[in-house]
Amino acid sequence: MERGKRADVPESSHFTPLADGALGIDGASLEELARAHGTPLHVMSWSAIETAYRSVELALGDGPHLIAYAMKANGSPALLSRLASLGAGIDVVSGGELYWALAAGVPADRIVMSGVGKTDEEIALAIDSGIRGIHVESEPELDAIESIARARGVTARIGLRINPDVDPKTHPYIATGLHDTKFGLELDVARRLLPRIVASAELELEAVACHIGSQLPRAASLADAVEITARFARECLAAGAPIRSLDAGGGWPIAYGDEEEAADAHRAFGQAIREGMRRAEVPDLEIIVEPGRALVGDAGALVTRVVFGKEQAGKRFVIVDAAMTELLRPALYDAYHAIVPVRPRTSAARPADIVGPVCETGDFFAVGRLLSEVERGDLLVIRGTGAYGASMSTEYNARPRAAEVLVEAGGVARVIRPRGRVEALHPRE
Ligand code: LLP
Repeated sequence: MERGKRADVPESSHFTPLADGALGIDGASLEELARAHGTPLHVMSWSAIETAYRSVELALGDGPHLIAYAMKANGSPALLSRLASLGAGIDVVSGGELYWALAAGVPADRIVMSGVGKTDEEIALAIDSGIRGIHVESEPELDAIESIARARGVTARIGLRINPDVDPKTHPYIATGLHDTKFGLELDVARRLLPRIVASAELELEAVACHIGSQLPRAASLADAVEITARFARECLAAGAPIRSLDAGGGWPIAYGDEEEAADAHRAFGQAIREGMRRAEVPDLEIIVEPGRALVGDAGALVTRVVFGKEQAGKRFVIVDAAMTELLRPALYDAYHAIVPVRPRTSAARPADIVGPVCETGDFFAVGRLLSEVERGDLLVIRGTGAYGASMSTEYNARPRAAEVLVEAGGVARVIRPRGRVEALHPRE
């Protein structure tokens, strides 16, 4: 599967060796963390998140902007409140996410809501909490928002999420901006809805939005999508809609280590957004972005212990105590994650399938990956798991959720999610 692919370990100034040679996270020992909190263990560096946030902020330049963190990447309330204190807003996609964003103290006027299947309850919650904007993805959704707002005697603030039909050149499962995906409104549909929205007493159209996909390698595709969206913003303004922002979605990439060519830098994504707006000759609008992975992906790693080694049918298996339950990305997208021993060994590396204990052939982290000899009890660290790692975890095979630890300045580790308990897997009425 991954033979022949590049298999590098991305550089990091957060996951670095300590004085004794074993890997640490911002100066905290991964061995100690594993001893104290058990394995599998999700670890996150707050300083890596803050650095990424500042880098996205810098890329957006001096104009008005809002970084609405896509909390689906990692919804830990501890991260949400810390990000909010830096000035971030949140992109939510469910009533559950909205609940937690509000509970974490994120101001409602910094919350936007996306999603193709918002229920009446979710729409009502969004309206009642006074969020910044509900991003509409279909005509029936618009009908629902309008009638729920009417029943409450209020005006709902909305955005129109355009499907700009731009190919983001990413994995098909995470491409969202092509016409044949379920996301967003086709331009002609959005155009048709415009007069009705402007005339409605229950709707205030304050944003246009797009999101073309995740882990975008090239910023140029975003410039194209923003141009299309910004041209539509002009039409909305001309029709009398009080548009004040353009939401360019997320999708800014991180380096996992298997890239043939490095993806474009944050700077290029910021420039691409400005370029798209310039080409559309749209007046100054506030820019909203919804990065998830770019803020937290690189900041997280999954620490796991080797349970057994096994040679079978001429293959070497390294069986670890983490599984697809803690990190689904390799099983779901054949995604690459760098894997390194916490304490380096000098033995020659040879190919191994690094697999979990779950009863699925797809329960692997790497296939044919070069790895030094390891022994039972050794720790491995799986990098780049801060986004869509813990947040996509499941309890399959009656495996309680792994604990999550946030390492703050000076290497102080804080448990932000205690390990789940087997007895709590099936709560009684
Ligand atoms: N905004 C919207 C409307 C989205 O649908 C998404 C992601 C984002 C923002 C954030 O995208 P990001 O900046 O993280 O690329 N589970 C997959 C990724 C799914 C992304 C879904 N939507 C993975 O593990 O790669």
